[in-house]
Amino acid sequence: MGEFVKIGKASEIDDKCAKCVEVKGHSIAVFNLGGEFYAIDDLCTHEEGPLSEGHIEGEEVECPWHAARFNIKTGKALCAPACEDQPVFNIRVVDGDLEVEIGD
Ligand code: FES
Repeated sequence: MGEFVKIGKASEIDDKCAKCVEVKGHSIAVFNLGGEFYAIDDLCTHEEGPLSEGHIEGEEVECPWHAARFNIKTGKALCAPACEDQPVFNIRVVDGDLEVEIGD
């Protein structure tokens, strides 16, 4: 089991927005979808485009570099040019703070 690491306040990420956080060598894109938070690897599995800067549409984010789309909740790659899913991180809110789980 991993360890939950505090990454900032939930209130710092507006609805339908995202932010990139660096945690223990991982770049993680944290999304707010209607008050629920999700975390996937920020670096696109295609060529490492920054997904936290991508366009958000419903539960999907479009990579700003070559327009691959991913499901924000599951990390699933939805179209070319990406064919590998994004790693997903567990995330929780504790007393207003966001915490992501980082593996060993
Ligand atoms: S880097 Fe994301 S689609 Fe190419």
